[in-house]
Amino acid sequence: MKHTITLIPGDGIGPEVSKAVQVILAAAGVSIEWEEVKTIGDIDDRSSYLIESGVLESIRKNHVALKGPLATAVAFGPPSINVGLRKALDLYANVRPVKNLAGVQTRFQNVDLVLIRENTEDLYAGLEHEVVPGVVESLKIITEKASTRIARFGFEYARKWGRKKIHAIHKANIMKMSDGLFLTSTRKVASQFSDIEYKELIIDNACMQMVLNPTQFDMLLLTNLYGDIMSDLAAGLVGGLGVVPSGNIGETDAIFEAVHGTAPDIAGKGIANPTALLMSALMMLRHIGENAAALNIEGALYKVYREGKSLTRDVGGSATTAQFTEAVVRAFEK
Ligand code: NAI
Repeated sequence: MKHTITLIPGDGIGPEVSKAVQVILAAAGVSIEWEEVKTIGDIDDRSSYLIESGVLESIRKNHVALKGPLATAVAFGPPSINVGLRKALDLYANVRPVKNLAGVQTRFQNVDLVLIRENTEDLYAGLEHEVVPGVVESLKIITEKASTRIARFGFEYARKWGRKKIHAIHKANIMKMSDGLFLTSTRKVASQFSDIEYKELIIDNACMQMVLNPTQFDMLLLTNLYGDIMSDLAAGLVGGLGVVPSGNIGETDAIFEAVHGTAPDIAGKGIANPTALLMSALMMLRHIGENAAALNIEGALYKVYREGKSLTRDVGGSATTAQFTEAVVRAFEK
């Protein structure tokens, strides 16, 4: 079956890692017609990007997109396009599997967990204003509706993928109303899933537990800001942002993307690691039912990492993006 998928190559190393993923998926025999939407390179021109690029129309039509990183200005300029895309398409669930990759040296082995982050509200609602000069207010929005929806997504995900335990992460001892509402909503959903063990942890303790003993966790359910921070912390446990994937999933549409940024320091040099985007593409293939192809590519990727001869610099090798890509293609089960 032929799939039409929106491709947002992104900025910086985005086009380089996107090309590598396209080559690998084509070599695996997955039939994909890529509908590529252009990126606007200048940050100042980005306010109208979502409308002018046609990206929203393309994703609404195809329902699935693969996305490279997009640059966002820090502390000035228009809001992040990444956040804009998630909001416009109501991609309320951010899914981040975090797992050791054989061949990547890390402090811990056997880490295998999934973080589910609420993607649409919390402090990311973007509601900030100056009350008086020198005083700024930023609103943390938590609703029963969004909390219940993300909790349900998390528990259903656990059932679908054979996970056994969910920790809800919060700071309801201090933010009794907002994080309290997230917890009470989650508890109601948890009570309907007696087959999944449900626990709660305060965010600061959860961070400490993660760096002491990450293998105790199976799935974490988090509001937007805690999820953003803890998912990068978790990525660090298995080798960093270059080797972890993510999916932003809504009722009808989904965008799969690497969690790293545009890596301006190495852009254009041909040395970027496409692993994170490739793993995101594997999540995407499973999302569209191409499980066999995903398994085949995953096997080839793991083999290249186990052998360790064609790895890129960020994971201790000296291969270029093209050499790594070739190695994965050569490693397919024929
Ligand atoms: P970054 O992830 O781009 O870079 C951090 C470090 O990791 C750099 O040394 C970089 O060379 C390295 N790195 C990242 N990805 C790599 C890869 N695939 N292969 C090899 N090395 C890799 O983070 P930074 O510098 O904080 O952000 C740069 C830009 O990216 C910013 O404009 C930021 O807003 C944007 N960004 C976009 C994201 C997205 O589109 N989802 C996510 C994170 C950042």
